[in-house]
Amino acid sequence: MARKTVADIVHSADVHGTASLSKTLGVTSITAMGIGAIIGAGIFVLTGTAAAQFAGPSIVLSFVLGGIACAFVGLCYSELAAMLPVCGSSYTYTYATLGEIFAWIIGWDLILEYAMGAATVAVGWSGYIVSLLHNVGINIPPVLAAAPGTVVKLADGTTATGVVNLPAIVIIAILTTMLVLGTKESARLNNVMVAVKLVVVVAFIALGVFFIKPENWHPFIPANTGEFGNYGLSGILRGSAVVFFAFIGFDAVSTAAQEAKKPQRDMPIGILGSLIICTVLYILVAGVLTGLVPYTELNVPDPIARGVDAIGLTWFSILIKIGALTGLTTVILVLLYGQSRIFFTMSEDGLLPPLFARVHPRLHTPHRSQMLIGTVVAIVAALTPIGVLGEMVSIGTLFAFILVCGAVIYLRRSDSDAQRPFRVPGVPVLPVLGILFCLLLMVGLPLVTWLRLFVWLVIGMVIYLTYGRHHSKLRFPERQ
Ligand code: ALA
Repeated sequence: MARKTVADIVHSADVHGTASLSKTLGVTSITAMGIGAIIGAGIFVLTGTAAAQFAGPSIVLSFVLGGIACAFVGLCYSELAAMLPVCGSSYTYTYATLGEIFAWIIGWDLILEYAMGAATVAVGWSGYIVSLLHNVGINIPPVLAAAPGTVVKLADGTTATGVVNLPAIVIIAILTTMLVLGTKESARLNNVMVAVKLVVVVAFIALGVFFIKPENWHPFIPANTGEFGNYGLSGILRGSAVVFFAFIGFDAVSTAAQEAKKPQRDMPIGILGSLIICTVLYILVAGVLTGLVPYTELNVPDPIARGVDAIGLTWFSILIKIGALTGLTTVILVLLYGQSRIFFTMSEDGLLPPLFARVHPRLHTPHRSQMLIGTVVAIVAALTPIGVLGEMVSIGTLFAFILVCGAVIYLRRSDSDAQRPFRVPGVPVLPVLGILFCLLLMVGLPLVTWLRLFVWLVIGMVIYLTYGRHHSKLRFPERQ
């Protein structure tokens, strides 16, 4: 089996990492990067729809379930990111454990999480910017802010189908340009934007709590309608699988390991710290939101703003939209960044063409790769509805998380002597629990999403067999 050893990976990070990508990120930037990646479309868009359609006020419990699953996985990520401080995330961990073919599968699967995730959030961004611009008297024609096939409401009350999502293209173009220009600048701006988003979320909780109508929480778990996922206990599960999207991103921190100043210390703090902060905020936001507005009225593109409307403060509703836009922007930024770093590592291994590992001599960023990713993500975001994208992102990520938990168990045996600056307690019990929780959430997703994942993986396998297998540096070291 073509497998890298832990020592190979750490050595290669020392040799290549210092020479190309610059080590500029401290623990604050890394935690901010985590929060930047986590709080986004999940809480600002999907909480409301999931409460309305699946779980009612018990969406709070969906968040608890999702948080528990991510806590187990976050511990596993922390151990691996501290032990293997290279960019590439779960791709690298899989290379060290299950071998090249599985590493390829996971790298390919991560495109769903990162590139498709960025596209999903860009579509959410588009919805909020259209709504905010409307507040200030600028009206974007709805058909130019929706994917083909999406039914949109026109000003005169009639409906039409979308043509293209132009605002989504615009935001991806701006952020790609920033990432090409340099990590340090992007990280600084990211810190500011994360602060804005946190203030808005906390303000929503702090203000909203005084306007809660407890009767909106009754029944807390609406009775199941007879169909799996429609309220009741299965509704909580389906709700978890949908709002799981809200937690995605804590793992993006691990893709920056090679650019961290002290990865062994900064990685666990960054991953677990950002995850804990976000989980607490989500549970509170979900509780306040369902207390403000009857859950049946939350199936709207901007549910949090709807919650504020219930309080009756128009200015705060506008502020929420600005905060949401800021929040969504940081998520797209981190996901686009993470994608280019994963491709960077895959390309260094020979599984992708050399273009993806080419770093600009002055900017120290993988500029060509970043531009290519930006172009493809913009096209996808312009043409695909958010629902299809979001579920694909969730299932792809859950699949990757399962392999990461498995990697921790495997490496404890295969490389028991390797240095582990951070150790998951209670191995193998905790990683096994992580695997079981992720599987449980996957069960909550519809069959068609499973089929799409399967088709995506088959396409990836064809690419590996026709390109990666023949260019792998592990298989053909003489070509290095
Ligand atoms: N967790 C990120 C979001 O909710 C992907 O937008």
